[in-house]
Amino acid sequence: MATGTEPQQNSGGVHAPARAEIAASNLRTDRWWLAPAVTAAGLLAFVVYSTWRAFADADYYAAPYVSPFYSPCLAENCATMHGGPNADLFGSWWAISPAIIILIFPLGFRLTCYYYRKAYYRSFWASPPACAVAEPHQKYTGETRFPLILQNVHRYFFYAALLVAGVLTYDTVLAFRDEHYRWGHMGLGTLVFLANIVLIWAYTLSCHSCRHIVGGKLKHFSRHPVRYRLWQWVSALNARHMQLAWASLVSVALADFYVYLLASGVFADPRFF
Ligand code: FES
Repeated sequence: MATGTEPQQNSGGVHAPARAEIAASNLRTDRWWLAPAVTAAGLLAFVVYSTWRAFADADYYAAPYVSPFYSPCLAENCATMHGGPNADLFGSWWAISPAIIILIFPLGFRLTCYYYRKAYYRSFWASPPACAVAEPHQKYTGETRFPLILQNVHRYFFYAALLVAGVLTYDTVLAFRDEHYRWGHMGLGTLVFLANIVLIWAYTLSCHSCRHIVGGKLKHFSRHPVRYRLWQWVSALNARHMQLAWASLVSVALADFYVYLLASGVFADPRFF
């Protein structure tokens, strides 16, 4: 008689035919569910916040700061509505929030990131929920089929992320102006932007694809001393990739929230000089 706890012959992971036949879903005695639960809560909070802000189409510019969610501002409605820096690549026909145009790239970069893949596979799909914990799915095909095979485009999102980081660096330079666009000023917002751009670059350069691009496909590091040195730097960052992924996720949301508070008139940017 079936008890409901028998290993499933077609499944992968710890119930794969070649693995030991252990009926229990796991033998772990620690709180293995805590990490995926906290990860799910954190990612969900960011998704809710960023969706609200991306579709809000308001309060994203408070001179001289433009929210990182809306930069680079590529739609004509950016300039006409807010007077901020923009490139007007999308004309008046673009009627919805300009954030939608640009967020695809940093979002795609994070969605296909090796760390985030592990994080959301575990926390949302329970595939597997943790090490040595059986996943509830019948089959495991990894990332060999559509749609997950598309995760391989990560390298191209990395190139796009470099461009976006470059634009956010430019925005941070512009944050050294006052609200009348005069140089040589610094406010609390400047510091918020500085912290954000440092974390954005650290996260972007710690990418596994970046590590492969600078140091991959080499037979002899000794013949490529510059690439070897770059690979060492990227590897040092890469060892902290998870921490940088979270820190930069929080910092970019905080930078946007700071601009939102200024633009909606909650308070004025404190200026140091
Ligand atoms: Fe995480 Fe590339 S692997 S950003």
